[in-house]
Amino acid sequence: MPKLGIEDLDLKGKKVLVRVDFNVPIDDNLNITDDIRIRESLPTIKYILSNGGKAILVSHLGRPDGKVVEKLRMAPVAKRLEELLGKKIFYVKGCIGEEVKKTISLMKDGDCVLLENVRFYKEEEENDLNFAKSLAQLADIYVNDAFGTAHRAHASTVGVTKYVPKSVAGYLMLKEIKYLGDVLANPKRPFLAILGGAKISSKIDLIKNLLEKVDMLIIGPAMAYTFFLARGIEVGKSLVEKDKVLVAKEIFKRAIDKNVPLMLPIDHIVAKSKSEDSESKLVTRVGIPSDWEAVDIGPKTVEKYSHAIKKAKTILWNGPLGVFEIKKFSEGTFAIAKLVAESDAVTIVGGGDSASAIQQSGYADKIAHISTGGGASLEFMEGKELPGISALTNK
Ligand code: 3PG
Repeated sequence: MPKLGIEDLDLKGKKVLVRVDFNVPIDDNLNITDDIRIRESLPTIKYILSNGGKAILVSHLGRPDGKVVEKLRMAPVAKRLEELLGKKIFYVKGCIGEEVKKTISLMKDGDCVLLENVRFYKEEEENDLNFAKSLAQLADIYVNDAFGTAHRAHASTVGVTKYVPKSVAGYLMLKEIKYLGDVLANPKRPFLAILGGAKISSKIDLIKNLLEKVDMLIIGPAMAYTFFLARGIEVGKSLVEKDKVLVAKEIFKRAIDKNVPLMLPIDHIVAKSKSEDSESKLVTRVGIPSDWEAVDIGPKTVEKYSHAIKKAKTILWNGPLGVFEIKKFSEGTFAIAKLVAESDAVTIVGGGDSASAIQQSGYADKIAHISTGGGASLEFMEGKELPGISALTNK
């Protein structure tokens, strides 16, 4: 890692501004429904506090578009963080200004303050340098632990680094870069990628980049149905992107040129509609009836994929393999989760929906690394430079 990390600095008595990604799902009753991003930031926060630093945490939550949105305040996050840390969190309803400065001036070594949702300020997403400077002036050191937001060039991820003497990566940032970086640069072979999710359009760059690196590629639902269209196979009402058929053909060709087996489902669960009470049945690869849609992979597909999974020494999984949110269509995704979890390979699950799927499957603790990034891990795996990482101080 060419960037400075949190252990490279002396934190004693220092005010440390930490950009975290506490953009967590919250329901209508303001309950946090998945706190993994908060839990994953604890090592960095604990390290600062136990080394005599003062931690000033800043994050966004949702997309309030530069306005104060009551239900996107950080209060529920402060409460959850307090429970997880077992320590008082001082929550301030702002990110800059007199009240914030006053709270920070009262901090003792080992104290932790959580600032308000930074996207309540329109200057955040504009990467406004005056705003970035005001944030920087709150602290002596800046730590970026928000891997999930590293693909955004915002004031709290990039601008701020211009006004602090040192900008370093926190433990979560380091862990994400290590796992995702190592797997792409130096995978143990055979290297298998399992790609699912609805849209080829959002994964073209990922598929192209991975085709240069993997030994085997599984393309699952729903993307797989566009590949079937490209082969002239009937897909009924399954989710497809008709305008991406040519891209699918190109990908087939590239896989043949690279000698990478590209595995598509060989049987499907089809349904009349995507609902728990819908009629459903198992059909062969070419047997999707015209007025039904495929919603999950079938047992023969699981069996076929299991051979590749057992052979692999590195597995990267991004995107669920069916409509796993609906229980009766989750069997395929969860069967693959079990096989991946039980394999001997280094296993990495990309963020977003695949992270939720693996959590729900109950096998999350058997996976070497589950990324906390959605868009950020996608862009990282596409081989793109992430501005939040580039902006950190070089070693
Ligand atoms: C995410 O959830 O992917 C990050 O927190 C970034 O959020 P954004 O897509 O609203 O920028």
